[in-house]
This record gives sequence, C-alpha cells and structure tokens, in this order.
Amino acid sequence: MRRPLIAGNWKLNLLRAGAVDLVAALRSGLAGEKRCEVLVCPPFTALGAVAEALKGSEIAVGGQDCYWAESGAFTGEVAPSMLADAGCRYVLVGHSERRQFFGETDESVGKKLRAAQKAGLEPVVCVGERLEERERGVTQETVGRQLDGALGGLSKEDVLKLTLAYEPVWAIGTGKVATPAQAQEVHAFIRARLAKLAGDAAAREVRILYGGSVNPENIRGLMDQADVNGALVGGASLKAESFVKIVRH
Ligand code: 13P
Repeated sequence: MRRPLIAGNWKLNLLRAGAVDLVAALRSGLAGEKRCEVLVCPPFTALGAVAEALKGSEIAVGGQDCYWAESGAFTGEVAPSMLADAGCRYVLVGHSERRQFFGETDESVGKKLRAAQKAGLEPVVCVGERLEERERGVTQETVGRQLDGALGGLSKEDVLKLTLAYEPVWAIGTGKVATPAQAQEVHAFIRARLAKLAGDAAAREVRILYGGSVNPENIRGLMDQADVNGALVGGASLKAESFVKIVRH
C-alpha cells in the first residue's frame, strides 16, 4: 500500500496571491512530513503560481477537473496534458459538485480518467451517494453503479494506478461528517468492487480517500479505519493551520 494521501480541494476559492501564501504556509508547516503524501488542488488560474511556489517540495499539485480531448474546438475546457504542463501530478475526476451542477456522468468520468492516465496524470475518482439515496437504502447500489460506469473495462494495471475518493454528498460542506463506521462500510464495499474489476491484489493497493466535512477533530477516527487510506478535504484545506493539523493527525 502506498502512503496515505491527504488532499485539499480548494474548489472555487483563492486568487493567486492568496494561493501562494497558503502553500508557503503549508511548506513550512509540513516540513519533514513523511507519513502522509500531501496534495493541493487549486483552481486552474492559480495552478502555475502554486506549482512554482512548491518547486522542490514534496507537496503535489492537482487539477480539480479536466476534459477528455487533448485539443480542439472545446471552448472553456482544459486538457490533461495542459494540467501536466502546468505542474500537476494529479487530477480530481467526477467530484459530486461536477455531477450535480455541471452534468458530469459516469460515462464522462470514465472518459476523463482514461484521458488523464494517458497524459501521465493520476486521477482521483470521486464517488458518493446523495442523502435521498442513503435514506432509500441504495448507497451501495449507487456507488457500485458509479464505479462500474467509470471503471468498467479498465486494465488491472490502470486500476492499480487509480486513487478513489468516497464523498457522501450529504457530508460535503455540511459539517455532518460520516461516522468512521459509515465510512468504513462503504470503503470496504468499494474495495470489494475494485477486487471484482481488477483482482484482490490490485484492490489492496488502491488508496480510498474519505471526503466530507473532514476537520482536525474527526480525521483520526476516520484514518483509524482499515479501508480509509487518506482524506479529500474541502473547507478545512483553505487554512494552513487546519490542513496541517489534518495531515499531521
Ligand atoms: P468539505 O470538506 O468542505 O465538506 O468538502 C469536501 C469535498 O467536497 C472535498 O472534495
């Protein structure tokens, strides 16, 4: 198993100056961190400045989304190779906010993650059920469908290079974190589904992050779970103090 990954998804926040200040504080606050790998995902416009400010540090940079075509008449889109060129190593794909507000589907998630891998990026593929789906008792069915729809047909080697993120939509930005047991239950389900797609050995290697109202107080309980291999942090990643505490939990 690779090192746990703690990722900050900055969403639609921060201009370049604020972004550079934040990563400068993260660089000093996280100096010598060995236990966890750290990733920040700034908005596109700050990627270059953040990558520059992180030169020589172990903190990785990622995009929050990408398109699947490498070039062409797709106004407003950003290609995986452009993210790599801006200094990214990772890219988030299929975040629930993309699914909810921008028409992302399991099929487009599948295309994007393949294009990202082709360009040498490591996709972090996000899945998660809405409140109404949890209340109807179809959490596993929903997450299973998202996984099969996006990952179906991938080679074992490509599954092995993925990172997954389980983000229950009802826990995002609400302060209502999933309990460690709720997270573990779905993470174990995801790993079992990965085993079906790519075999037990591959499934054991893939990191599955939890996301949704992660903060310095609840991170440890989540990370103590057998199948939780990191976190995808929104709000609490925008302040160096809380993000450093989460990484160093
Ligand atoms: P919050 O940590 O703000 O709930 O956001 C989670 C998230 O969506 C990370 O991608």
